[in-house]
Amino acid sequence: MCGIVGYVGDKQARDVVIEGLRRLEYRGYDSAGIALVHDGTIAGDKRAGKLANLEKAIAETPLPPSTTGIGHTRWATHGAPNDVNAHPHLGSTGRVAVVHNGIIENFARLRDELERAGHDLVSETDTEVAAHLLENEVLAGVDLTAAMQAVCRRLEGAFTLVAVDGQDPSRVVAARRNSPLVVGIGEGENFIGSDVAAFIEHTREALELGQDQVVTITRDGVEVSDFEGNAAEGRRYHVNWDLAAAEKDGYDWFMRKEIFEQPRAIGDALLGRHDENGLLQLDEVRISDDELRDIDKVIIIACGSSYYAAMVAKYAIEHWTRIPCEVELSHEFRYRDPILTRNTLVVAISQSGETADTLMAIRHAITQKARVLAICNTNGSTIPRESDAVIYTHAGPEIGVASTKGFLTQLVACYLLGLYLAQVRGTKYGDEIGAVVRELAMMPDRVQQVLDDSGAIYALAQRFKDAKSVLFLGRHAGFPVALEGALKLKELAYIHAEGFAAGELKHGPIALIEEGLPVFCVVPPRGRDQLHDKMISAIQEVRARGALTIVLAESDDTEVVPYADVLIPLPTVPTLLQPLVATIPMQLFACELATVMGHDVDQPRNLAKSVTVE
Ligand code: F6R
Repeated sequence: MCGIVGYVGDKQARDVVIEGLRRLEYRGYDSAGIALVHDGTIAGDKRAGKLANLEKAIAETPLPPSTTGIGHTRWATHGAPNDVNAHPHLGSTGRVAVVHNGIIENFARLRDELERAGHDLVSETDTEVAAHLLENEVLAGVDLTAAMQAVCRRLEGAFTLVAVDGQDPSRVVAARRNSPLVVGIGEGENFIGSDVAAFIEHTREALELGQDQVVTITRDGVEVSDFEGNAAEGRRYHVNWDLAAAEKDGYDWFMRKEIFEQPRAIGDALLGRHDENGLLQLDEVRISDDELRDIDKVIIIACGSSYYAAMVAKYAIEHWTRIPCEVELSHEFRYRDPILTRNTLVVAISQSGETADTLMAIRHAITQKARVLAICNTNGSTIPRESDAVIYTHAGPEIGVASTKGFLTQLVACYLLGLYLAQVRGTKYGDEIGAVVRELAMMPDRVQQVLDDSGAIYALAQRFKDAKSVLFLGRHAGFPVALEGALKLKELAYIHAEGFAAGELKHGPIALIEEGLPVFCVVPPRGRDQLHDKMISAIQEVRARGALTIVLAESDDTEVVPYADVLIPLPTVPTLLQPLVATIPMQLFACELATVMGHDVDQPRNLAKSVTVE
């Protein structure tokens, strides 16, 4: 969701801000704007639509030189995505400019108060009240930092605010509550960003801010305080990926690049986490072995693709550890009064580490005294910071909005967690764990094999470019894969797609089957005979009713051949690990179909990469 950039230094702020916004485009947005401090006032522009619209406007009416500025890409919440509602927003006199990510929940009351005091607010946004309140303080002689502290004390909800005062080019001031914000530390220049992509080409030194903190950046310094004005500290860290990781590297889409990076990503997710005998070492799990032995229930919470990773994790964790494991959508979890105790392990899976629904869910779990472990890809993000322990997935930056390597590395982290629990609790022998670890270690090669054999998928995308609906069937660990395949297609191709547990077909969904309907079928490995055979029956049932079957099965599975209109071969792997290979053809299909249909694969309509509002 909204992307935020702030800069103070000696470069042209316009260039730094626009480039930063470009690198944040992947977060999803529908308007963009910039404000610069120039000659005692604010100069700026803002436009609905893509960044290109803003750049065109700036090219036609150039902005004055400035070395202090802020910028924003907006994902609309309050008010339509038009020029007026785009950020930055100004106070009454135009002296203070503000950009914002999040939702100010008490904005209606504040707006009413401002209007009664004679303020004229021009947009439909919640943000504009913050601009007016800040400017009131500044006009009363308070510096921007103190003004920000005072205003934040009055705001409710989730917000990152970044502001500049037209009469003070020395500083950019930002605040955060429940929304992402990081500081980039340069030499003779400093940066603000919603995430490190905003400034990665200038510096890889970052400062993570805590909850309810205000930060003031100047050319030569960074000062952090709480909302009361007391000095506070952020956490310094080095960003371990570089600019190249945030570029397309010759691919047409970030998503395609990220699909093809998956062998490397899986390798990195496994790196250093087991020895040559398969003994697991999860150093980041800061929950003691004794505490892990006392766990009597695991609840995994997540949204979207991460939720499907959680569904796979349930099969693995219950099978390997015999601990009951529930899986729940984060946004449902908090509102049903879940039963949590000190012995409940809540696992929060989030690629971004900023998903508001998941963040609020872990906060609820923490108040109930449960242990919280995050599985996360983004260092410096909020969910791991607030959790007791974290397993980082090490996928590298995921820029395509649709999760690919993020999802696969989440699966790897879930497998590692399940095996680690089994090791600590002694529910599996060391050699059994070692055997699974050896299979995992072979996964980068197997995933590469699926990518190398993916030619048929491209033809399939051409063939189905006019499809109105596509179904996905799976069983056991293949069921979440079917759901993930359908989600990818909805997100990218904007066509109706649904995933079903194949056993559920006859209870209703089979009525959807009609002549020529494409149905993807994930066939379990033959090691699980019953599941395998039942899946074949399901394929026969849909085919008998006219469906066109695209069957994903082990490459030497001859039993499926008579029922497959299109056969996608998969390497032979254990059933629980099959999602790592079976998901890839679906990712490629969605990416390719969306490309053929002329859609923007990296920034699908209406979607945001990081969903920072509830
Ligand atoms: C789908 C997708 C989303 C995310 C979901 C959770 O391709 O990317 O469904 O999986 O929004 O996001 P995180 O994992 O960042 O919490």
